[in-house]
Amino acid sequence: MQTIQKITSDIYYIGSCDTHHHLFENIYPIPNGMSYNSYLITDDKTVLMDTCDTSVREQFLENLMAALNGRTLDYVFVHHMEPDHCATLDEVLSLFPQAQVVCNAKTQTMIGQFFNRDISGRVISVKEGDTLSSGRHTFSFFMAPMVHWPEVMVSYDETDKVLFSADAFGSFGITNECLFADQRDIEKDWLPEARRYYANIVGKYGPSVQTLLKKASGLDIQMICPLHGPIWRQNLPWLLDKYQKWSTYTPEEKGVVIVYGSIYGHTKNAAEVLAQKLSQQGLSNIRLYDVSQIDLSYIIAEAFRFSHLVLASITYNNGIFPPMESVLLALKAHNLQNRKIALIQNGSWAPTSGKLMSALLSDMKGIKLCNQTITITSALKPNQAEEIERLSIELLSDETSE
Ligand code: FEO
Repeated sequence: MQTIQKITSDIYYIGSCDTHHHLFENIYPIPNGMSYNSYLITDDKTVLMDTCDTSVREQFLENLMAALNGRTLDYVFVHHMEPDHCATLDEVLSLFPQAQVVCNAKTQTMIGQFFNRDISGRVISVKEGDTLSSGRHTFSFFMAPMVHWPEVMVSYDETDKVLFSADAFGSFGITNECLFADQRDIEKDWLPEARRYYANIVGKYGPSVQTLLKKASGLDIQMICPLHGPIWRQNLPWLLDKYQKWSTYTPEEKGVVIVYGSIYGHTKNAAEVLAQKLSQQGLSNIRLYDVSQIDLSYIIAEAFRFSHLVLASITYNNGIFPPMESVLLALKAHNLQNRKIALIQNGSWAPTSGKLMSALLSDMKGIKLCNQTITITSALKPNQAEEIERLSIELLSDETSE
């Protein structure tokens, strides 16, 4: 049966949620599933806002037909050509041969790359600031390159003041049980997975997100319809503030994320002792993660959330413990900035992981390393307690060296 939901007088949610796959993009765990959003506007002309992933193809097509209720499809807006939104585009274009594709020039090229279909005779090519009317609604188009691919654009419904925001403002997780963000406890039920989605999917592209936020600030937006996650019709300033922080690499909270890579528990022990010292200084936001036990995407999200990081790694094959090296490379790849970081290295005969971690962090913008690096040779000794305490004090102090 169809699962469409009416969200305004003539805009329908026709997307669906995948709860079968364990990974999004074949890399990110999605324990709470994933929504693939699509919208249909039943104006004088019918407008489809993106298609969907193959995982929800059947439900999406049933929803599309139900929402059209016997009408034909006039326009398909393609905001983002990534297959989680476009895998079913070719099929929709076959079903509705008269439908016109509304997209920008880059998207048109990508459609040709993904599909063996010549759409040149049925494209309405749009640029920044162009408008298109479907009758009651007038849509304007804004380019949003690298949020998250280069061809991304968003569209703004000037009539109902709805922003169709592509990947921006999306999240991991399903929307089956409640489609609107205001139906949830957003701090508890939305924020962790939205932060993890943001940091890992578009975290690298903060300046591009900033450009989009500036464009959005000139619009009277009453509702945001992303391509993943719930629809926003309340608390928009709160949502925009999160995006402002994330896209400028500004920590949301003061706190320390301690990530350790440990084989026999000695580096873990040092991380725990440091956590205690930080706690004794009155810090309440302390998170300890065993790098071998948690997916990297959660660590990246926590690094975007908190102000301070501790990376504690054994030396392995004369290098950094491989899972910890992945964390460092990912922090770098996601362009994390403006954090204070302390390092702990362990090595039974030639500890080198600290120096190597420091080198990897050295060209990251706004990263301030503590002067001290704790070195453990096999196991932390009681006479190092003072050293750990000094590191905890330096980490939380304002005195830093770049
Ligand atoms: Fe949801 Fe970049 O695709």
